[in-house]
Amino acid sequence: MINDEDLTALKKQRNAVILAHYYAAPEVQDVADYVGDSFYLSKIAAGIKCSTIVFAGVKFMGECAKILNPQKDVLMPDDRADCFMAHMIDNEFIKECRNKFEDLAVVCYINSTTETKVCSDVCVTSSNAVNIVQKLPNKNILFIPDKNLGRHVAMQVPEKNFIFNDGFCPIHEHMRIQEILALKKAHPNAAVLAHPECNEEIINTADYIGSTSGILNYAAQNHNTEFIIATEIGIMHKLKLANAKKNYYFPDTVPKCLNMKLNTLDSVVKVLKNGSNSVHVAEELIEPARRTLVRMLELA
Ligand code: 13P
Ligand code: SF4
Repeated sequence: MINDEDLTALKKQRNAVILAHYYAAPEVQDVADYVGDSFYLSKIAAGIKCSTIVFAGVKFMGECAKILNPQKDVLMPDDRADCFMAHMIDNEFIKECRNKFEDLAVVCYINSTTETKVCSDVCVTSSNAVNIVQKLPNKNILFIPDKNLGRHVAMQVPEKNFIFNDGFCPIHEHMRIQEILALKKAHPNAAVLAHPECNEEIINTADYIGSTSGILNYAAQNHNTEFIIATEIGIMHKLKLANAKKNYYFPDTVPKCLNMKLNTLDSVVKVLKNGSNSVHVAEELIEPARRTLVRMLELA
């Protein structure tokens, strides 16, 4: 276990800042300089002054930080941490759609590979997808890779024509409605707060649908004292920190992203010490991928 002074000294030596997603382990969130959802972290990454960014998240997050800061060193505490959904789109399908549909915008969830971003027109996250899609001039929207977020956006923007892809986050897709209904039965006054990556049945029973930061804000500001939370368990740490007196119920099967949990305090300290797991993005991909991220930052 490292103490605060030693960690501060290590960060100073490496001129580093630590970013962590809400799904990272509590011990990692506690040592991070910035903790947030995907959109917040990409905005922060775009303005970092330090020469090193330690990103306690998954691969696409580290790559986004690198794309926005090609001159900086971005270190992943564990370079095996990847997002399953990011690999659920065949870029050939994007090309086919471009040939088939006129007036098409390819809207890519930030949970995607750099190669997919290069084939896209704009990136979105779960907290800004509706807003950005509404602002696009195009009638046809190819939404990739997440079918669940895509369906949620399509419901809010009925004036556009959506083409979907069959990708999903296994952690949210495999959450069972029966578990949510059992929780509702046990806690009839609890509001159901769901991430838009959840499957359709869960979304249809939710009182609020939003990103991780949206869920945190809703739980903090709502007068209700009981919430059923349909997203990854890592968010519990900030929910409890914000208000330990409120009750938060998760499905019994505990939705856990094992990739996010590869980020341990030991692995953060290790990369700070030895500078390993530096993210590499091929030079020719940086500018075209950056274009989609900058467009998101401008439109959001
Ligand atoms: P947000 O942080 O944008 O809510 O997304 C959740 C997620 O799946 C990150 O991988
Ligand atoms: Fe990817 Fe799902 Fe893990 Fe988020 S929770 S990183 S979408 S696998």
